[in-house]
Amino acid sequence: MENQYIIKGGIPLEGEVTISGMKNSALGIIAAAIMTDETVTIDNLPNVRDINVLLDAIQGIGATVIRVDEHKVLINGSTISDIAINHDAVRRIRASYYLLGALLGKYKEAKVVLPGGCAIGSRPIDQHLKGFRALGASATVEYGMVNTYANDLIGNHIYLDVVSVGATINIMLAACMAKGRTVIENAAKEPHIVDVANFLNSMGANIRGAGTDKIRINGVERLHATEYSIVPDMIEAGTFMIAAAATKGDVIIKNVIPKHLEATSVKLIEIGAAVDEYDDALRISSNRRLGHTQIKTLPYPGFPTDMQPQMTMLLALSEGTSMVTESIFENRFKYVDELARMGANIKVEGNIAIIDGVAGLTGAALTAPDLRAGAALVVAGLVAREYTTIDSIKYIERGYECFDEKLTSLGAKIEKVPMDDEKAIQKFKMTS
Ligand code: EPZ
Repeated sequence: MENQYIIKGGIPLEGEVTISGMKNSALGIIAAAIMTDETVTIDNLPNVRDINVLLDAIQGIGATVIRVDEHKVLINGSTISDIAINHDAVRRIRASYYLLGALLGKYKEAKVVLPGGCAIGSRPIDQHLKGFRALGASATVEYGMVNTYANDLIGNHIYLDVVSVGATINIMLAACMAKGRTVIENAAKEPHIVDVANFLNSMGANIRGAGTDKIRINGVERLHATEYSIVPDMIEAGTFMIAAAATKGDVIIKNVIPKHLEATSVKLIEIGAAVDEYDDALRISSNRRLGHTQIKTLPYPGFPTDMQPQMTMLLALSEGTSMVTESIFENRFKYVDELARMGANIKVEGNIAIIDGVAGLTGAALTAPDLRAGAALVVAGLVAREYTTIDSIKYIERGYECFDEKLTSLGAKIEKVPMDDEKAIQKFKMTS
């Protein structure tokens, strides 16, 4: 049975919230973990759907996965008996493609169902395949599967035509067990690239320059056991920052790396919110209507595309006219129609949203179109007058751990109820 969120808006968020481990680096790290035959311990794993699907996928090909607790897992890749991954759940997560790089690096062969993921644009994987081919592998797509095979992987100089997080990580995975030296130029610089590289290095890989646009990898013959803790999720943190500002609240966001959040912090300060930085926490507060601005999404350290819907939602309530340009994915404004149903005034022309701020939003029945847009709609519901319901929360659960519970702990009125369960909805309305 599907669930939906019901939200009663209008309450400023107050208190402290602790951020989970970063989903997008955990996905790369789980794939990387199967590259050694020794046991790897991964901690601070977010307990979200995409992670659990990937853990199931590696178990499906024979890896041993032991859940120590909600956030800690032991993985042993010595029991892997198959290099083909083709079940339906995996097709739905984008990061299944990391198993290509990991299996190719380790076994010189991989077959993985072509990935899906959030419908936010066309999302080609040509740069991943270009990278594998440069290392000497064949890489073809047939019958919905990506097949890659090499007699030998040999290091090479690879220049990425577009800055791609996925391609950078995938090439890093394959190249760390190739013969000789690989250089990735025009590499992505996101914190998850650094996290995956740090993890691989802790297993004995030799990767330098992660976090810059030139990554140098000296291949090694084998990788070994490690214990590793995943960095905090900057997008989850950013979403709570927006939620605090949008509800005119006062929230301390704990377990973050403030540097990773700079693009969002700077914009919030520019439009009038207060952001205080501590070593591993941020405090966001606001007691007035925020101002307008212009934003363009860019690869890190630019403003993240994964924060675009949340920021657009905030600007929908701000004073004046703002402009948001989406330069990474061509189809990432679908949620705007949902915000319009709450009274927002946003016009989308191509990859630009022109936002005329309104003084308030009103509750409506909404559907989450994808993960981050879904989170933005939840925040809109927290601000809106009266009640908002949000369907298709399975998208939100792909990437936000205990989202409703964390929001409730900050004073929000939000509950997960079975779809169309009128009794549960009535009960919520009577008690909130
Ligand atoms: C990662 O996707 C994230 N997903 C996305 O997060 C995030 O939005 C995106 O990076 C950008 O930061 C994961 O880490 C699992 P890209 P990815 O390759 O790797 C083009 C979320 O909400 N491109 O950096 O798929 C592509 O079309 C998700 O958590 C090619 O042309 O993104 C896009 O325009 C959504 N050819 C740009 O590059 C390729 O071979 C950046 O994409 C690869 C990408």
